[in-house]
Parts: sequence; C-alpha cells; structure tokens
Amino acid sequence: MCGIVGCIGKNHGREYIISGLKTLDYRGYDSAGIAFSKNNSIEVYKDAGSVEHLDSLIPEKEDGKVIIGHTRWATHGKPNKTNSHPHFSYDQEFVIVHNGIVENIGELKEFLSKKGIKFVSDTDTEAIASLIAFEYKNEKDVLKAIRKSMEQIHGSYAIGLIHRGEDRLYVMKNASPLIIGLGDGFNLIASDASPMIEFTNKFIELEDKEYGFIDATDFSLFDMHGRAVSKELISKNADLIRHDLNGYEHFMLKEIEEIPSVISRLVNHYASDGEYKFDKELIKKIKGADHIIFLACGTSYHASLVGGRYFESLLGIPTTSYIASEWAFHPMLPGKKPFIIFISQSGETADLIHCLKIVKKSNHDTLIITNTNGSTLDRGCKYSLNVQAGVEVSVASTKAYSAQVALLLLLVGAVKEDPSIVKDIMGSLPIIDFIKKDKKQIIKAVATQIKDHKSLFYIGRGYDYFLSMEASLKLKEISYIHSEAIAGGELKHGPIALIEQGTPVIVFITDKVTAASMRSNIEEVKSRGANVFVISTKELSKNTDTIVIKDYPSYISSIIVSSVAFYLAYFTSLLKGYNVDKPRNLAKSVTVE
Ligand code: AGP
Ligand code: GLU
Repeated sequence: MCGIVGCIGKNHGREYIISGLKTLDYRGYDSAGIAFSKNNSIEVYKDAGSVEHLDSLIPEKEDGKVIIGHTRWATHGKPNKTNSHPHFSYDQEFVIVHNGIVENIGELKEFLSKKGIKFVSDTDTEAIASLIAFEYKNEKDVLKAIRKSMEQIHGSYAIGLIHRGEDRLYVMKNASPLIIGLGDGFNLIASDASPMIEFTNKFIELEDKEYGFIDATDFSLFDMHGRAVSKELISKNADLIRHDLNGYEHFMLKEIEEIPSVISRLVNHYASDGEYKFDKELIKKIKGADHIIFLACGTSYHASLVGGRYFESLLGIPTTSYIASEWAFHPMLPGKKPFIIFISQSGETADLIHCLKIVKKSNHDTLIITNTNGSTLDRGCKYSLNVQAGVEVSVASTKAYSAQVALLLLLVGAVKEDPSIVKDIMGSLPIIDFIKKDKKQIIKAVATQIKDHKSLFYIGRGYDYFLSMEASLKLKEISYIHSEAIAGGELKHGPIALIEQGTPVIVFITDKVTAASMRSNIEEVKSRGANVFVISTKELSKNTDTIVIKDYPSYISSIIVSSVAFYLAYFTSLLKGYNVDKPRNLAKSVTVE
C-alpha cells in the first residue's frame, strides 16, 4: 500500500514526481525513491525516510524523459535504502516500482535462484523485475515478457516499469489501484488521481490483469490473451481530490473540527425538506432482507457495530458485523435473504476487495458505504452511498467515522420512515461545536495525565462500548500507548486483573440504560487503584466527572462524543511529539492483505 507515480514526456517531470510522492505519502511513507531514465542511462535515488529527504539527495539538475517514483510501506524487508524502490532487475536492464504483495514469492525466488539470479534486496518487488528481465531474454519483447511474468506472479501489484533505452513507461496491475492520466504531449501514471489532477482531468483506470505502456502521446493496454483492450476516459472531481490544511497545524485537527459541517452536509444530501432521498430500490431491498451483514476493517468496522445496533434496535432486522480479513477465510452469509453492506472510507481496502470477490459468487445484493467515489469498492458493489466527508488525509480516521455512523442511522431512518432521526442528529450537532469551544482545554489536561502511561483502558456499555472501541483504536494509532476497550460487564471476567495503582481508565457514560451499571464498574476499578476519567452527559453526570457534555439522544453518541475521544488522541500524540497525521507503521489506504 504505497504510492506510485510516473511520467513520460513531461517538462519538469521531476517536480511532478516529487510533488506527486508528497501527495501520495498518505499511502505509505517509510522510504521513497525515484528512477530517471534518459537515452541509455538510468539514475536511481532512494533511501529510508521522507520524500523531502529524498529530494535533498537528488542533484538539482537531474531530470529524465521517463521517470518513476515510489513511497513505500514495507511488506517484504525492513524500510532501509536497499529495500527502497525503484529496484533494478538482475541484469540492470529494467527498473521497477511496485505497490502490493507477491504471494508466491518463495516459489519465484527459488525458480530465479536456480537460474543463477541473485537478489540484493529482501523485497518481493526485485524478483518481479528479475522475472521480467529473465522472460525478456527468451521473448525479446517486453510486452510478452510482462504477460508471461504475470501468469507466474500470484498476488497484488500496481507496477511502473522502465526498460533501459526505451521511451516508454510500462504498467501492469492486479488487485492494487493504478491510473493513467492523459496530458497534452505527456502522460502520467499514479496510484490515484490526486497527484495528476493539476495537470489533466482525463483518466484511464486499469482493471485487474491488464498491462501495457504509455508513451508521450498515447497509451496501449492489453488483457491476458494479449488482446488490446479499449478503455473509457473518466474525469474526477478536483475539489474532492485537493488536500489543504486551511490554516490548521494538522489534518487530524482540521478533520475533527469539520465533523459538524460534514454531518450537516450529509443530512442535507440524504434527507432534505423532511424527506429521505435514498434510492427507493435500495430501501426496498433492505426492507426485504432477513439479515444485514457488515464487512469492514478498523474504524469502519467500529462504525458497522454501531450501525448494526441501529438496524436491530430501530428496525428489528438481525445483523452480523464481520472483520473483513477474518470473514474472507471463513465466509458465512447468515439468513435466507441477506443484504451485504461494506464500509470503507477509502474504498480500496484489500481485505474488503477480497470479500467482495467472494460475495460476488453469490447473487446477494451489495452496498458500499464509502468516502471515495470511483474507488474499487464503489465500482464493484451494486449500490453505493457516499459519506460526503470530503478527502480525509490524516491516517487516523475521524470525520469519516462520524459520517459513516450518521449515514447508517439515516439509512435506518429511511427504512423506518422516521423523520425524528434527522431532527435528533441535526439538533445535537451544536454540541460538537460546544465540545470544541468549551472542552478542549480539559481534554488536553487529561492528555497530559495519560501521555506517559504505557497502558490504559476505555470502558463503556452498549453504544458507549462501541465508542470505547473506536476511542481506544484512535489513541493507540497515534500515541502508541497500549489501549484496550472493555465492555463494563466484562471487567470482572478477566481484564480487572490488569488494574493497578494509577492505571488510567477512561469511562463513557452517555446512556441512561447502562449508566447505573457503569457507576458500579467505576467503583470496582477505583478500589483497585485506577485513575478514572469520566465523560458523561449532563443528565447522567456526577460532580466528580471529568468532562460533562450537554444532553442529547444517547443513541447518537458515536456521532457526538466521538470528537472528545478524537481530541484526546490528538493532544496525547501532540504532547508526545509524534507525527499526528502519519503515525508509524500505518498507511491511509490499506491496499495489501
Ligand atoms: C482508522 O483510524 C484506521 N487508520 C484504520 O483502522 C482504517 O479504518 C481501516 O484500515 C479501514 O480503512 P477503510 O475504511 O479505508 O476501509
Ligand atoms: N511488497 C513491496 C515491498 O515490500 C511493496 C510494498 C508497498 O506496496 O509499498 O517493498
């Protein structure tokens, strides 16, 4: 799940590649590299670290006719200079950048080793380059060598490839995104449209198992039978693609503070003038389902848990939420007429794409709830609903989560034909602004108290438990503090053994039904020495609570109080001096399984 960029025939191509890598580094950022090809020479610059660092290594005058660049998220081999892309083939005739994972790498390396081919890096990518070079020796034709290699490579790849001395940029793709941008006298490639939007609004998306090349004026793509494939031009909405800090210090802070406007835009989109505006056929399909199945990962999975509770408690339709990477290996479709809902901010999560391939073998209807129009899941599911959150840049998802939950609630409202849900959401939005204005200082004070702890716990019950799970994930992602969410009732079944003098325990109490039980849980952990921070709503609050929020209908906690959890993670990371928007080991778009 890295970023790939490439260009041919572009004036100042180097600038496009550097700025493109910066735009794409949300996809992976442990190392970066560039190959410049002109006439018969290929120069490669690469290292562990940032794109800025890479830029500083490249001589000012360096440029090329064909250029490829890469920002890496290591899957095979440590993030160091040797493993950084681009990689040369064993004979130095090909140079490659690759996003994805080769699943049969052991087999391929063994095959190539037997032919006397040696490897300098630990990556799977280098073996692809050498396999193509090896096949080229027999075929004497790069396209045939690519096709023959693709027949042997199992796994995911989006690839940019240069052959020494040729004014062509070769491409190949399977299960990782790759887009061509068509310019005037030049052509581009990238993992998504964002780096190219400044230069063109004409795009071609490669499908799985397609390969080919671009030159400065044209492109040619082929299928696995070697037949030319014709492609439709697509255009992308530039406003949705641009990233801008708007004066904020970090994207995460900006994105948390956008939540009220995102939700209100979402509500206006799907429920204006007192009427729900969803596709009637979609609503009919959901009404006719006897089971709703959710497939999602990480934060989107947490949103599915809240959504599942909405379908069950407000509509009486049973639901099951599955972690996509688990479900893919033990697929289950409970119910006679299940309706399957995928949730994915990026729409490109490989675990989910795997699930979609499995689901497609049945005839069941699929819906994707996503923030990314035109993404693989958006194109692959029968129905698609956009959460209207605008581009989310920070790796830690915030506004997209709140919007996913709000959209699921609106969908349930539409099936139930209940306008009160819209009123409940809209009536509560000012509370998020109130948290921003009145509670940031106290949240920062809590961050100061927890920041030096190695481990802490979030507890809650019902909706507050689901919220605790998301709060806990957010904190661990960006502050690197070990954090666990525990359902209040489960404490005594094991986790309470971990509570010792001073252990921070953060408690959500926003639900009348579970408030009394939560108060008992607080006493249980306090008597074992826990340092408790309570976040409660006014009606359920006690004088000793840390953060008290105005009252609102408790079933929308995940939309409203989540901002407290997001701020807490943000301030904790900031106080620890970490890179809030780009936490270690993570990437925004998880395009490998
Ligand atoms: C969110 O903060 C995380 N970075 C991560 O859990 C994310 O939600 C997960 O990878 C799923 O991504 P998706 O919504 O784009 O499918
Ligand atoms: N598997 C390759 C590597 O580890 C590519 C990873 C990526 O997509 O960044 O280098």
